[in-house]
Amino acid sequence: MSHVLGVIGGSGVYALEDLDDVEEVEVETPYGAPSDLVLRGRDRDSGTTLLFLPRHGRGHRLSPTEINYRANVCALKKLGATHLVSVSAVGSMREEIPPGDLVVVDQFIDLTKRRASTFFDGGVVGHVAFADPVCPHLSSALAGAAAQALEGTQKKLHAGGTYVCIEGPQFSTRAESLLYRSWGVHVIGMTAMPEAKLAREAELPYALLAMSTDYDCWHSTEEAVTVEAVIAVLRENVVYARRALRALSRVLPDPEASPAHGALASAVMTRRDLVPE
Ligand code: ADE
Repeated sequence: MSHVLGVIGGSGVYALEDLDDVEEVEVETPYGAPSDLVLRGRDRDSGTTLLFLPRHGRGHRLSPTEINYRANVCALKKLGATHLVSVSAVGSMREEIPPGDLVVVDQFIDLTKRRASTFFDGGVVGHVAFADPVCPHLSSALAGAAAQALEGTQKKLHAGGTYVCIEGPQFSTRAESLLYRSWGVHVIGMTAMPEAKLAREAELPYALLAMSTDYDCWHSTEEAVTVEAVIAVLRENVVYARRALRALSRVLPDPEASPAHGALASAVMTRRDLVPE
């Protein structure tokens, strides 16, 4: 089976380079329009198709709250994605994850408040399993690809970590930042949720490549995060995320081995014979 790698790129990751047969595709979904046109192209070496969607829209028009996450995931699924990778800028909540490092996270804490976070509504109720929210096979392939992309630099790839997702758009207060640290999180961001939840409901193997851009505001000797600082680190490091995605597109695992495969088979409650009246 040929693979199709869907990528939802964060701030600063607006394209992928050097693909063949590149085209821009407009997609409509039952949830409305995705954040932008989807860029579709083929990796020359593996033949894998890549789909790229800029999460905030070109020019960064959509805040984390305004993004139509359902339309984004649905659009990639409609275009045949077999795997979904999210790339996003995050604040580091650990001394050992300096700006410029990459983290392939494997757990989430969802503190978002104002987002449509399920495809189930309108009379159909479903509860997918989400204890292990990322695909371990895709995450491990992504970690390998990211480590390869960082070879020859001082930057590190961290395999595993917990991402706390806040609503934003404001950065956290210092009290919040210290609280999240006491929970043992590794990174903080504003967009992984509900993307990861929707990917599971869409039965798409999902992994997240987080790029550390700052130390948020808990750090006693570093300046509190600003947009300027985030953009500066992104500009310098976006090349590594792009390289990692290209390397990943050549080693995509079997999607049928993912916990996302068949996730809906036992999830739907509505009209089950087993549900008592
Ligand atoms: N994205 C990048 N840095 C962040 C931070 N410190 N908090 C929330 N989202 C971020």
